[in-house]
Amino acid sequence: MVRRLAGSSITDRGRYIVVRTPENPGFHWGNFLLWPGPPAEDEVGEWMAQFAEEFPAATHVALGIDVTEIPEWPGYLSTTGLEADSSVVLAAELPPEAGPPDGAPTVRPLCSDDDWGQEQGLRVTLAAEDGPPPPGHHAFLERSTAESRRLVESGRAEYIGAFVDDRLCSVVGIASDGLGVARYQNVGTHPGYRRRGFASTLLSRAGSFGMEVFGARLLVIVADPDGPAVGLYRSVGFEPVEGQWGLSASPVS
Ligand SMILES: CC(C)(COP(=O)(O)OP(=O)(O)OC[C@H]1O[C@@H](n2cnc3c(N)ncnc32)[C@H](O)[C@@H]1OP(=O)(O)O)[C@@H](O)C(=O)NCCC(=O)NCCS
Repeated sequence: MVRRLAGSSITDRGRYIVVRTPENPGFHWGNFLLWPGPPAEDEVGEWMAQFAEEFPAATHVALGIDVTEIPEWPGYLSTTGLEADSSVVLAAELPPEAGPPDGAPTVRPLCSDDDWGQEQGLRVTLAAEDGPPPPGHHAFLERSTAESRRLVESGRAEYIGAFVDDRLCSVVGIASDGLGVARYQNVGTHPGYRRRGFASTLLSRAGSFGMEVFGARLLVIVADPDGPAVGLYRSVGFEPVEGQWGLSASPVS
């Protein structure tokens, strides 16, 4: 849904679907092949060749697998150079509930060049927490912020920030096509402002927005199963509903 809203092309080739986001070629999960199930051992090479054919200029590989459960990754994948990406998809039928945040930040939508510039800076800060970024990552983040802004300006998304002294400390996005589902995006709090209830407050505000303005009946959020966010999402009312799977390889630094 979000790829479609953002203007990505989605082409069904029969055996797989191609999702293409030419404005942001370094966005792995904006430029990928979606397959209906995990590859058999003798199919991995063919999948990678197919990816190279569809994306000849790409320096990454991204292969989505359109199933909701994979009991165990096949052992042979360890010899392919591909990494298994797994995410947990959580959903809620009511906006998350959150108590008041510490320090009374100003909570409001992002709406100016300065706000979006700060959002871009926050993404860079959060990405740096994972170590030195791979080549091209900064350009990817810039284009990703530009896409979020376009979605907001076209009425398909809202990004809400928590500001302390005009500094953006936490942000949560939510996008919807108005057909019943709203999907959270880009949840993050500056490392110096964590555990003050900022993200919880924004999840709650964005969820209410999604239901009231986009008419959503289901709020969806996706998290790294081993990351810091999944416990928070569960504590504010989201329930895990399924897994999301993919195989990828990044450019080497
Ligand atoms: C995940 C993340 C967004 C949470 O942001 P945050 O603003 O710290 O979130 P909150 O303060 O609302 O909640 C965090 C924890 O602090 C607790 N908390 C909230 N208010 C608190 C307070 N006043 N005092 C102490 N703890 C508090 C919450 O209960 C929650 O605990 P839990 O994780 O055990 O459930 C932040 O850690 C982050 O940006 N991480 C890196 C990027 C990332 O992983 N993003 C999510 C992608 S899916």
